This record gives sequence, structure tokens and C-alpha cells, in this order.
Amino acid sequence: MSVPFFDLTRQYEAIGDEIDEAMADVMASQWFIGGPHVADLEKQLAARVGCAEAIGVSSGTDALLVSLMALDIGPGDEVITTPFTFFSPIGSILRRGARPVFVDIDEATFNLDAGQLQEAITERTRAILPVHLFGQPCDMTAIGEVAAANDLAVIEDMAQALDAEHDGRPVGSFGTTGCVSFFPTKNLGAGGDGGMVFCDDEALAARIRRICRHGAEPKYHHVEVGGNFRLDAIQAAILKTKLHYLQQWNDARRGHAAFYDEAFADIEGVTTPMIGPKNRSVFNQYTIRVDDRDAVRQRLSEEGIGTNLYYPEPLHTQPALGFLDTQMGDFPIAERACRQVLSLPVFPELRDEERQKVVQKVDEVVGS
Ligand SMILES: Cc1ncc(COP(=O)(O)O)c(C=O)c1O
Repeated sequence: MSVPFFDLTRQYEAIGDEIDEAMADVMASQWFIGGPHVADLEKQLAARVGCAEAIGVSSGTDALLVSLMALDIGPGDEVITTPFTFFSPIGSILRRGARPVFVDIDEATFNLDAGQLQEAITERTRAILPVHLFGQPCDMTAIGEVAAANDLAVIEDMAQALDAEHDGRPVGSFGTTGCVSFFPTKNLGAGGDGGMVFCDDEALAARIRRICRHGAEPKYHHVEVGGNFRLDAIQAAILKTKLHYLQQWNDARRGHAAFYDEAFADIEGVTTPMIGPKNRSVFNQYTIRVDDRDAVRQRLSEEGIGTNLYYPEPLHTQPALGFLDTQMGDFPIAERACRQVLSLPVFPELRDEERQKVVQKVDEVVGS
């Protein structure tokens, strides 16, 4: 028996009829751009995240990009963020002509270390961009305090963390904006690309909506340069259907995580993920640390266990950021994480015997 790292066909097997019906509804209406499904999804998710406004956009990356655009962050500005995440937030900052400024991560949670923020602030700093990595919230209490004291915007990258909570409050409701991704592997995944921006400020939301329509207001009168950043109706219809199951799926992910936590507690050489006491994670990933990670991964692969590396290389050493003059050694905790992390199967439909096998093989491989 091999264990897949991730398998969406099981989800489609379970709820495919409902998904097909939702898609057929859009096809019958032939209303592909905007329309009731998009408006409905925005309303439902705004309420869920606890924000007044939600704007459906074309991807999680574009959610970040339009947030930066609507906050007028551009050349000469600095945005403080983490060196240990997907490239998307950094690429978005760079596409605005702004400069990413990194602070190292917290060893235990993989999230940016809020204790290092104050030191990184200069007169050019405009925003903090925390990423709720693997489904676990950043320390939004501390980040909020630093942002308020320094008059900075906060752009929450909640691509991996819809429904996660910090101090009893959903992520996405803390920042100036919250940016989620509906990439198919996310906890709420579309049938393609999609994303959403959450915010409480009506004027900011209106600006984001305008930016998503080439800066036009009214139509064909272009007040500023925007882009085509809209969420498709067909994706909204699929997402609305899946939204009914999100709680159940997140519970299943948490169940797998608790199972692994307990099973790995006795296995020397495996460090399990630490969830902060104020946090409720949605475990988009269950990521352990092991030494000799590449060899462990190779042997697990030979045993039929699917794993993945999020992320094998930090951002501050990427060739695309060469001009920043950051180098290996600058953010040692992030760099160590890149060498040690190994993400295990944690998708909701993972079977009992499969997670059991994952534990058994990790035990054999790491213990040997
Ligand atoms: C942390 C993080 N930020 C941003 C993104 C970008 O989202 P998208 O792929 O929808 O553009 C992703 C996922 O892909 C992500 O994991």
C-alpha cells in the first residue's frame, strides 16, 4: 500500500455530484464573470472571517498584489515579511517596485518572529506582511501592537489558513487586508485559480474592486491603472459548494495532526509542529523536522510514502532577489528550517490505515 501526499480525487468522489450541479448551474446561466455566485461567496466568507468586506479575485497572489496596489505601496517603500514561505508575497512586493525586508522566523512555529519587527522598521517601512504558514496564525497580537505603534498597514497572507484562529478570532480579521488563496490544494480549493481579499474599510474595498476592473469607474472611464483580477463565477459556484464541508475537512486535518503528534512523541529524531497556545491551526500542512531530511524523504518515497518540501530554499537567497544583497547566513533559523522540514500527508480523506503506515515508516526510517 502506498500513501499519496495529497489526493483530490477522493474529495471529488464524495461530493462530485454537488460540484457538477453547481458548475451546470453556471453553464445554464452563461453568467461567467461576476454575478450572484461571486456576490454570494463574498458575503458568506466576509461573515465567516468577520470582516465587513470581501472581494473575490483571480488568485491568492493577486489578492496580495491588489492589496499592495490599493495601499499605494510602491517604489521607495519597504514591506517587512518572512524569508520562509512561498515566493508569492515577495514577488508581489517586488512587482510593485517596493523592497521586501526580511525578519527571521520563530523556530517553534515557522512563522515570522514578531519580536524582531521593531528593529527592522525604517522611515521607509509601510507595511508588515505576515504569512500564516501551514495553517497556523502568526502572533497577530504582537504584530498588531508593532503596526499600531508605527502606523503601518498589515497585509495578512492567509493563503494556507482560512478558518484558523488566533486568540479566538479568525485570521483575516486582524490586518488592513487579509488575502486567501483558493488554489486547489488549499483547505478550500477551487477548480482552478482564485482568491479573496478581506477588509473592514469600505473605501479601501471600493478601491480594490476598482483596481480589479482596470481601475475603471464608471465602466470605460479609467481613474487609475488596475488589471483584470476577477474571480470567475464557475470557481465561486464550486467554492460555495465546498464551503459546506470546510469545517468538517479542517476537523479531519486536526484529527490527523493529533494522531501524528501522539504517535511521534516517542520517536526520537522527529520534531512535531508546535502550535502556539493562542492558536487554532487548520493544518494545511503537517510539517515535521528531521535531520538528514533528503535521505529520509528518499527512503520514505521508496516505501511508497508521499511527502513534500515546503520550502527547500529560503527566499533571501533566491536568484531573483540577488540585488537585495542578502545572503546565506542572514536568517539562520529559516535556513535551518529549509534543511529540516518534511511535510507529511494530512489531507482530510487520508485513511486510518494510511496514516498508521506513515507513522510506521517514519519510525523505521528515522529510527534506523
Ligand atoms: C503562503 C502563500 N501565499 C500566497 C500563495 C499564492 O496563492 P495563489 O497560488 O492562489 O496565487 C500561496 C499558494 O499558492 C501560499 O501558499
